Amino acid sequence: MRKYPKTEKYDKNWIKENQMGPNPIILMEELCYNLDLHPGMKVLDMGCGKSLTSIFLAKEYGVTVFANDLWINPTDNLKRFVEAGVTDKVFPIHAEAHSLPYANGFFDAAVSIDSYHYYGADEYFFPMIYSKLVKPGGQFGIVCPGFTQEYDNGFPDNMNELFGNDMFTFHSKNWWQKLWGKTGIVEITACYNIENAHEVWLDGVEKGEEFIHADKDKVVTLVVMAAVKKGHRKNVYDICE
Ligand SMILES: C[S@@+](CC[C@H](N)C(=O)[O-])C[C@H]1O[C@@H](n2cnc3c(N)ncnc32)[C@H](O)[C@@H]1O
Repeated sequence: MRKYPKTEKYDKNWIKENQMGPNPIILMEELCYNLDLHPGMKVLDMGCGKSLTSIFLAKEYGVTVFANDLWINPTDNLKRFVEAGVTDKVFPIHAEAHSLPYANGFFDAAVSIDSYHYYGADEYFFPMIYSKLVKPGGQFGIVCPGFTQEYDNGFPDNMNELFGNDMFTFHSKNWWQKLWGKTGIVEITACYNIENAHEVWLDGVEKGEEFIHADKDKVVTLVVMAAVKKGHRKNVYDICE
């Protein structure tokens, strides 16, 4: 498995207690290999859950993070920011993906770990909503559970049992690349299946053993995709309409 030296600094029990899927900090460190983040940048952490990744981004990259989630109470996230000492850099926001409270062109980057597939796997969301939030030249990054191929006639045995209806949102890397690429809004800078996805998945997730057993053919993977928004803006108002 690839090395994740930044992730190693974090307490494994803290990660296990707060992760809502496969080790989100590893996935964010993997994604960040494909991004160029600098202190002071404004970053949307979309579907941050219990905000492990938001804390990680603030601490490791010095960026200002808007920790946006739906299912998790923002006051509980704030408690985690207080404990981590990042309240000056991370802001807890409760908002649904289709009614986000941000100005167009506000963010330098928008990232999302194990979440984007819930609301972004349609033709409309990226061009009409999500892409507008980031300034021209800004960056996007997602890591989503996916399949190594597309399925046209039903899914492999056990997938429904294991992932429930979520499996309908699982797609191949080529499918994701096309979804964003065809909009012409971004240049895709990376799109690949994470190396040793099963090992990463096993790293602390309760269903790990069951998952390995069910996915004999290793069709389940974790898709990493990064992109840069095309264009250059002249000033802050010259944006994203
Ligand atoms: C599997 S959890 C992953 C959370 C976190 N990124 C992690 O890896 O631990 C998916 C997250 O996506 C968020 N989410 C799902 N649908 C959403 C929507 N329509 N709008 C905003 N967030 C959404 C949920 O609130 C949830 O915390």
